[in-house]
Amino acid sequence: MLEKCSSSIKGPFNAAVVSNRQIGERLYRLRLEFSGPGAETFAKFKPGQFAQIDLSGAALPPAEKIPEGLLDTSGRNILLRRPFSFADVDKQTNKTFVDLLYRVVGPASLRMTTLSASNLLSVIGPLGNGFWIPQGKKKALLVMGGMGAPPLQYLAKVLSANYPDIEVTAFVGAKTTRELPFEGRLDEISQQLEFALREFAKYGAKSMLATDDGSAGYHGLVSDCLSQWFASSSWARDTTIIYACGPDAMLAKVAQIAKDKAIDCQVSMEQMMACGIGVCQSCAVPVRSELSSGNVATSVRTSNGASQTAYKLCCEDGPVFDSREVVFSS
Ligand SMILES: Cc1cc2nc3c(=O)[nH]c(=O)nc-3n(C[C@H](O)[C@H](O)[C@H](O)COP(=O)(O)OP(=O)(O)OC[C@H]3O[C@@H](n4cnc5c(N)ncnc54)[C@H](O)[C@@H]3O)c2cc1C
Ligand code: FES
Repeated sequence: MLEKCSSSIKGPFNAAVVSNRQIGERLYRLRLEFSGPGAETFAKFKPGQFAQIDLSGAALPPAEKIPEGLLDTSGRNILLRRPFSFADVDKQTNKTFVDLLYRVVGPASLRMTTLSASNLLSVIGPLGNGFWIPQGKKKALLVMGGMGAPPLQYLAKVLSANYPDIEVTAFVGAKTTRELPFEGRLDEISQQLEFALREFAKYGAKSMLATDDGSAGYHGLVSDCLSQWFASSSWARDTTIIYACGPDAMLAKVAQIAKDKAIDCQVSMEQMMACGIGVCQSCAVPVRSELSSGNVATSVRTSNGASQTAYKLCCEDGPVFDSREVVFSS
């Protein structure tokens, strides 16, 4: 069962690459296999937690395969591990398999594309606090934009396995159809507003799709699609919860919707991370100090003195926060 959790440093563990498939433009799905103590540890990985992966040993692709725009930076040394969440965790006898969806955005994710079966990676995790399920919830709305999808896919799996009484609806947002981080998406797409995206349908969840350019599903922002759902569906304040992961601007809008409807909402924040374990202080998230408990790092009084902004660490206190706690910049 999912309770609010915290984690200490785990590992590093070796993970073997099982497969690494391109599923779209600059989009890949990587499957890793843990055995021994790593298998035990990663079997307990909760949706929304993350792992720090060492990609310093991975090779660069040949120059002609490097996307335009990344040529200048591609040769950089990868000194720091990179944070990734998982789209699936699958425990089988004495092994644990994890699936990672990644987009090529810089030198480390570019090197990831050259990984192939039996390459070994050093992985630290599970890190951070994942999503939790407050008691009494009957409807979970999973709202995701772009690469915010992976942890919510895994959450859909955990909800269907452990919380069969909770009805799950996924709201999937992307700039355009081509950027949906799912396999087989082209044959799944329909122009209808509501249809089953295979990634969520397999867990019994309904799904709604929104694309900024209207190439499929709702024409517009996924947060507007969510607002429309609230206006046209039946829901109850105490038994509904929103889980969201995606760009900051999307999270801010979803948090505002939750506030207006007075329903619970958890947001998974994405910050640049250096250490991932609470040491470097590079991943501060502004929070409302009057609503925060625990590890509040810094406190600053605002000019009118009415409320205070404090900072929590995304890697240690998050990445998942109660949306009421976060001060969004957008
Ligand atoms: C908790 C967490 C979970 C994540 N899960 C995933 C995942 O499942 N799939 C995935 O593709 N990516 C995920 N990321 C982002 C991933 O860590 C970065 O894409 C990766 O570190 C990029 O490394 P790079 O060397 O390729 O690019 P870099 O050169 O490090 O970055 C290239 C550009 O990407 C942007 N960027 C990189 N990291 C971040 C970040 N953390 N937040 C906001 N912008 C960033 C910046 O604009 C940067 O200039 C996650 C990040 C966090 C913090
Ligand atoms: S990434 Fe170093 S403290 Fe969070």
